[in-house]
Amino acid sequence: MEILHVTAECYPYAKAGGLGDVAGALPKYQTELGHVAKVVMPMHRTKFLLDNVWDTVHKGFFNMGNFYFDYTIIKEATNKLGFDLYCVDIFGLFNREKVYGYDDDTERYTAFNIAVTDWVSKWNHRPGVVHVHDHHAGLVPFMMQNCFAYRHLAAVPVVLTIHNAQYQGQFGWDKQQYIPAYDTWQWGKLDWNNTINPLASAIKCAMKVTTVSPSYMDELKNTAAGLEALFEYEKGKCTGILNGIDNDVWNPETDTYILDNFSIKDADKGKALNKKKLCDDFGLDIKKPLFAFIGRLVGEKAAELLPQAIYDSVYHINGRMNFLILGSGDPNVEHQLENMRSSLVGFYNSTIGYNEKLSHQMYAGADFLLMPSRVEPCGLNQMYALRYGTMPIVRSTGGLKDTVIDIGDSGGYGIRFNQATVGDITFSIYRAVELYEDKKRMTQLRKRMIGIDNGWEVSAGRYIELYRSIS
Ligand code: ADP
Ligand code: GLC
Repeated sequence: MEILHVTAECYPYAKAGGLGDVAGALPKYQTELGHVAKVVMPMHRTKFLLDNVWDTVHKGFFNMGNFYFDYTIIKEATNKLGFDLYCVDIFGLFNREKVYGYDDDTERYTAFNIAVTDWVSKWNHRPGVVHVHDHHAGLVPFMMQNCFAYRHLAAVPVVLTIHNAQYQGQFGWDKQQYIPAYDTWQWGKLDWNNTINPLASAIKCAMKVTTVSPSYMDELKNTAAGLEALFEYEKGKCTGILNGIDNDVWNPETDTYILDNFSIKDADKGKALNKKKLCDDFGLDIKKPLFAFIGRLVGEKAAELLPQAIYDSVYHINGRMNFLILGSGDPNVEHQLENMRSSLVGFYNSTIGYNEKLSHQMYAGADFLLMPSRVEPCGLNQMYALRYGTMPIVRSTGGLKDTVIDIGDSGGYGIRFNQATVGDITFSIYRAVELYEDKKRMTQLRKRMIGIDNGWEVSAGRYIELYRSIS
């Protein structure tokens, strides 16, 4: 089957979060299952673009309202990622480093959707399935089915995967002229709450809708940033498929980012060496349990609770632990986390920013990983942590619920709590500190964690079954 993934991010070309990891791994594993998986994404100006060789495969043009755009599709020449990677350049819109966060993101991503649809409409055959990811690709299904120029694509099976329903990409109807000429009777398929809502539109138009964990799918019927009724109405075509992780990229035995490679057999020793390096680099004490947080410093991740939870833990649990934070996001939280470095010397340190290498070193060297997320559609960090023998401490929500079993339950290997509150986080840290004193149990649990296989094989196959059900 020929599968075309349409996405804003794809690791290692460009990554802002877990979407990049998924788009960089799922097609690889689908290819290994014998399918032809391809990815198309915007031509962000990242190092990967400059470091690799590209062929130009198509040139085209389109109008978007009063704008006229030339676009170019390039393809990575050596199949470096294990699948065909295509990038779309649209003059003036993607000659930037960051994936999102610009004032003209509506124009950038609407144009991306038009260019992709236009390009596919020029193929001399039809793809087996078009798989769009999140709102950044959300207008593609509508355009394939309703825009006059592309209606010969209307029968192509389309799947939407929702990685995060908090972000929907909505914009006002005053920009409706951006959508290429379409059957205006169908305007309702673009609309949600009097705006053009790319995510809602994709939910309406896709033949199947998936979320990245079954629990998140259930939660969306109750809390979906305004789309609850739509999920209820469309529930017949919605299903949750848990993300996997790329066991080739995230492998403590071969990871080139970490100081000392290790396997399940020598996990205690390997982790100790990696922890020593981290503690030396960040002025922390190797004898104490090391708690890490890696992620976007935003409300969804409950990042603003971290400063108080860290202070409370240091003071009320008698400084029996160390903390290391890596993240970026809300400037207020960033400032607080930076300022704490001087008041909690020897107990706490942080790096504000994005650092792929340090993230690997932290998964390898930490003892516990904190994820107090309010919303976590799947979460990959907890699965990376497990692979490196680091115990996840998670709030029971979304994918965290589906991937972490509490140590108090049979077969458990993590710590779970219910509320995104300082109290619940601090109590969980206390449980972890107590557990850490029991060296024998920690060794057993480490082996259990590393032995878990969260690889992509099973879920990659489940997507194929889903495509087959609509082909
Ligand atoms: P989300 O996509 O919601 O941010 P995920 O858990 O799915 O959450 O994925 C986050 C990914 O981004 C992981 O690969 C994590 O290691 C990485 N990551 C997040 N913040 C940083 C950072 N500051 N530096 C390096 N990697 C980061
Ligand atoms: C989103 C979600 C995260 C998920 C990731 C990959 O960014 O916030 O929970 O793991 O997508 O699907």
